[in-house]
Amino acid sequence: MQQFAQIQAEFTEEQFEEISALVHQLAGIHLHEGKKELVKSRLAKRTRQLQLRNLNEYITYVREDTTGRELILMLDAISTNLTFFFRESKHFDFLRETILPSLEQKRKKIRIWSAGCSSGEEPYSVAILLHEVIPSAASRDIRILATDLSTRVLAVACRGEYGEDSFRDTPPPLVQKYFDLIQRQPQRLYRVSASLRNMIHFARLNLMDPWPMKGPFDVIFCRNVMIYFDKPTQNRLVNRFYDLLTEGGALLLGHSESLTGTKHRFRYHQPATYVR
Ligand SMILES: C[S@@+](CC[C@H](N)C(=O)[O-])C[C@H]1O[C@@H](n2cnc3c(N)ncnc32)[C@H](O)[C@@H]1O
Repeated sequence: MQQFAQIQAEFTEEQFEEISALVHQLAGIHLHEGKKELVKSRLAKRTRQLQLRNLNEYITYVREDTTGRELILMLDAISTNLTFFFRESKHFDFLRETILPSLEQKRKKIRIWSAGCSSGEEPYSVAILLHEVIPSAASRDIRILATDLSTRVLAVACRGEYGEDSFRDTPPPLVQKYFDLIQRQPQRLYRVSASLRNMIHFARLNLMDPWPMKGPFDVIFCRNVMIYFDKPTQNRLVNRFYDLLTEGGALLLGHSESLTGTKHRFRYHQPATYVR
C-alpha cells in the first residue's frame, strides 16, 4: 500500500509529457491533461506488476526494452476498450435493412473491416447480422477483418467468451442462436459459435502504421476510436479509409464522432455514416 502511494505521488508533469509524447508518436492517441489521473493509475498498476519502485523506473524500463514488448503492453494499459454487442444499434439497423441486402444481390464477395474492434463484440455482431440476412453466408466468400492495437483485448476476442454485460443490447433469441452457455456460476458465460468465429480474422494492427491489406472493403467500422486522435491524425486516417473502400462502400464512425472540420471526399449519408 505504501509502495502504491509512492507510485501515485511521483507522476510528475515531465513524466506525463514524456508518456504523452510517446503514446502520440506510436499510436496517434492524444492524452490531454484531463487524462493524467487515468494514465497515472493505469501505469502505476503496470509498475507494480513489474515490481518496479516508481514510474521513473517504469519509463526507463520502457525506453530500454529493445524488444518493443513493453511498449505494446504500455499501450494496452492506456487504451480505453469499452464495447458490447450491437452497440449503437442504428448502424446495425442500416446494415440489416440497406447495406447487406444490397451486397447480397450485387457482390460475390463481401469484405468488412472492424478497425479498433476491441474485445470483438463489434465484428461478432456483424457476423450475426450476416448470418441473419444472408442465409447462405457460411458458404459464400464473406470475410470480416477485425484489428486492434491492443494485444490484451485481441486475446479476449479470439477466445470469444463473454459475460452477460456484453449482451445488454442483444435480443435474447440471438444469444440463444449464436452462443453456447459454458458456465452458470459465479456468473453466466457464453462462447461464440464456430459459425461466427470462422468468418473473422483477428489481427494486431496499429492504425498509424502502414496497412498490409489491399482491400477493397464494402464497409469499414471505425467507431469510438478516432475520438482519441488529434485532427491531423483523423484527417489522414479518414482519407486512407476512403482509398480502401469500394465505390458506394460505407465508413461507420461512433455516434459522438463526425467528419465535420475534416478534409474528406465522402458523401454524408446519416449521422456517423459516410459513403464513398
Ligand atoms: C472504445 S474501443 C471501441 C471498440 C468498438 N469499435 C466500439 O465502438 O464498440 C477503442 C479501441 O480502439 C483501439 N485503438 C486505439 N488507438 C488505436 C490505434 N492507433 N490503432 C488501432 N487501434 C487503436 C483501442 O485499443 C480500443 O480497443
